[in-house]
Amino acid sequence: MADFIPEEKISEIRNAADIVEIISEAVVLKKTGRNLVGLCPFHAEKTPSFSVNPEKQIFYCFGCATGGNVFSFLMKQQGMTFPEAVKAVAQRCGIELPSREMSPLERRRLSEREVLLGLNRKTMAFYSGVLKDPAAGRTARAYLEKRGFAPAIVDRFELGYAPEGWDALIRHFRADRERLQLMEKAGLVIPRKTGSGYYDRFRDRIIFPIRNAAHQVIAFGGRVLDDGLPKYLNSPETSIYTKRRSLYGIDQAREHCRKNETVLVVEGYFDLLALHQHGIQNAVATLGTALTPEHVRILRGCIGENGTVVLVYDSDAAGIQAAQRSIGVFDQGYADARICVLPPGHDPDSFLFEFGAAAFEQAAAKAQGIIPFLMAAAVARHGLSVDGKVQIVSELTDAIAALQDPMARSLYVKSLAERIQVDESAILERVRSRVGAKPAGGAHPRPRAPAGAGGSRPPLSAQQFDRFETRVVMMMLQYPQILPEIRQRRLLDLFENEALRSVGKMTLRWEGDPDGLNRAIDSTADADIQKLVASLVLEDTPWDHRGCLKLLDQFENSRKNKDHTILEKIKAAEKRGDHEQWLKLLQQKQAQIEKS
Ligand code: UTP
Ligand code: MN
Repeated sequence: MADFIPEEKISEIRNAADIVEIISEAVVLKKTGRNLVGLCPFHAEKTPSFSVNPEKQIFYCFGCATGGNVFSFLMKQQGMTFPEAVKAVAQRCGIELPSREMSPLERRRLSEREVLLGLNRKTMAFYSGVLKDPAAGRTARAYLEKRGFAPAIVDRFELGYAPEGWDALIRHFRADRERLQLMEKAGLVIPRKTGSGYYDRFRDRIIFPIRNAAHQVIAFGGRVLDDGLPKYLNSPETSIYTKRRSLYGIDQAREHCRKNETVLVVEGYFDLLALHQHGIQNAVATLGTALTPEHVRILRGCIGENGTVVLVYDSDAAGIQAAQRSIGVFDQGYADARICVLPPGHDPDSFLFEFGAAAFEQAAAKAQGIIPFLMAAAVARHGLSVDGKVQIVSELTDAIAALQDPMARSLYVKSLAERIQVDESAILERVRSRVGAKPAGGAHPRPRAPAGAGGSRPPLSAQQFDRFETRVVMMMLQYPQILPEIRQRRLLDLFENEALRSVGKMTLRWEGDPDGLNRAIDSTADADIQKLVASLVLEDTPWDHRGCLKLLDQFENSRKNKDHTILEKIKAAEKRGDHEQWLKLLQQKQAQIEKS
């Protein structure tokens, strides 16, 4: 992995970086003692278990067992490769990386991700060049102007125009076969159905480059200039673009969301642009999907623990549908959500251009919580006749039952009963019968590990390892004075767990190097080992030399004395009530005694 960047350079970059500063862009961190803690960006949680240690420049989440150094963080959070993460950090710190022409072999090795990102960047440059071209971009510029968008906004979002014709982009790149295949992987071209060859995906459309939080262009959206269909065409999902994790405008929104502790979520590209043009920058747009738990997690990283997500919809019907669907999503993501519905016939774009920013902010300030919003909508729709009340209760039962917090459930039941003048116990009974019945949108039970983040592997925690071995490695990492002892007694040879042994070996190898720990993390591609190192380092234990030696003796004895292990097992089997195993072990023990 370090093919292109010499190791000393990597160390230099790591030392120049501040992990706290970089993580703070995605997580709101609070100081507690020697560490900083915040809500983990990699799994849903209500109380912070994500810790960063500024001294050792390492992070670890005690909830989902994700950990590592500044590079591991960027790799995991932004989906970067190792060289990308190194380059990103270098750029921030103003460190020059040696650059040279790559050999064909190196070129092939360069990750596909980087190639696709580069292709997208060049594509964006091409399309935005066409938009600026006096002749070729004229109609598209006129369209944007007619809709009221200022050149400053067009520039900020680097909008473009994909010209007419079937192969403008292909010709621009003078693409050979290999390049065409990459363009297909990036979703830029489509293979012809008949015959061979490809054609451009985006033709005669306004182009919206979609970026990730690191400002990389991961996909595109394109709008027709007239009433043609489909109105919007978007990149397909690719190896660098996942809709359920992407939000249009996230790169611009981040700092503003943090300041406001609020984020507005709108549905359209132009809605987002209109907000920016009216000076409202704490906003993102979903990309033709409902808000996902991943989105909520990303947003919470921007607004902080007590922040608010305001979903802006352009009709009651859309608002109600979204509200019903998102209860579970927000409930799992532990974010406070509100729903704002604009007057009939308006989306944020048309509303802002007609009524201005102040009116919009007023409307957003009146946004209601999800359940109160659904309650008001149901009352407005069904009225308070006997039939109406029956309808209202049946509509709200699922929504209230989907809430995880029993206290919130009981409070909403009470408030609904008061609002429609129905006996509280009647509603409560219906809600109770639905709780746990897996209502639409509400997911029970709460997932432990982040979906899609680490595959189906259960979170790795130190408890899964042998306690002795874990303690010994922790000691090695935290109390390097003990290393000669470990080496001399060849204690690592007694390890049964491979992962722990390899962490131990790395620690020995880097002895005396203040940077050793981080080198150890970078030198292993095994994410489990990275996590393990981070967890062992972050767990704070005071060590004294005598205590250490005692522990090492105990460890050695336990390993050299199988007898001991059998006794332990016997005790455990007895405790478990595993009669069969217990008997077997006893017989084994008896045989040993007879032999000796
Ligand atoms: P809308 O149909 O509400 O369009 O779609 P809009 O954003 O108001 O666009 P204008 O103002 O008419 O230009 C909302 C969003 O849904 C996605 C797009 O992200 C769009 O911005 N969408 C819509 C598609 O992906 N494909 C479509 O065909 C339509
Ligand atoms: Mn619109």
